Amino acid sequence: MNIVITGASRGIGKAIASLYASQGHSCCLISRSAASLYKTMEELQTRYPSAVISAAPFDLSQKEDAMQAAGWCLSKMVPDVVVNNAGAFEPGSVHSEPDGLLESQLATNLFSAYHFTRTLLPAMMKEKAGHIFNMCSIASLHAYANGGAYSISKFALYGFSKNLREEMKPHGIKVTSVHPGAVLTDSWGNYDNSSKRIMEADDIAQMVYAASQLSYQACVEDIVIRPLLGDL
Ligand SMILES: NC(=O)c1ccc[n+]([C@@H]2O[C@H](COP(=O)([O-])OP(=O)(O)OC[C@H]3O[C@@H](n4cnc5c(N)ncnc54)[C@H](OP(=O)(O)O)[C@@H]3O)[C@@H](O)[C@H]2O)c1
Repeated sequence: MNIVITGASRGIGKAIASLYASQGHSCCLISRSAASLYKTMEELQTRYPSAVISAAPFDLSQKEDAMQAAGWCLSKMVPDVVVNNAGAFEPGSVHSEPDGLLESQLATNLFSAYHFTRTLLPAMMKEKAGHIFNMCSIASLHAYANGGAYSISKFALYGFSKNLREEMKPHGIKVTSVHPGAVLTDSWGNYDNSSKRIMEADDIAQMVYAASQLSYQACVEDIVIRPLLGDL
């Protein structure tokens, strides 16, 4: 299969890319910083020589970049699986977060997926097949302290994902919204997870991978996955 993953240089995106590459699938990886992206590409290519791994840096928060990124992917493959995973977590509260945070969170967490996906869709619709995963969050499902602009942007991403699911039914394209609770990645800084309180990136990768392996007629609409002890 041909797999496209955004935000693939580290964290959840890298775990998803690793799992698909380990099964020999071709992967197109995108994130902003070229150095860390190419390092991940080389690491995966060395570990999984039978998979074809390509990578190109784009800032998906910029509409032109998001559209060019999709064009670059289409020059390599028509995707069977697209994982809109790129995102950034900036904590805040509506009454006190800095001016402009909502705009930047929407650009990174919502507009990125919207413009990237829209550019890929015509080629995927021609194939009448494909599967799009949108990396939402439990912050897409309910409000929490310090959610602010991040949570608003993730609710909006879920709105995008649900609308796309309805729209794509007659085109044979599946859409899955993924809602992880806390996952140990750079987003959590130096968090000490020795007590295994929060999840691992590979937990999310396993769920995405499994959902992409079902029969043609089965579509997992939502994946909600939390730490055993619940949210922090
Ligand atoms: N970790 C959690 O607890 C958790 C929970 C729920 C949902 N999520 C969601 O899961 C996704 C991945 O989270 P993570 O924790 O794995 O994050 P992470 O470790 O911070 O990695 C984020 C990835 O996205 C890329 N990225 C960020 N901004 C970008 C942009 N403007 N254009 C292109 N790429 C960009 C980053 O690379 P560059 O910085 O080089 O661009 C990196 O590859 C996010 O959407 C996040 O909101 C995470």
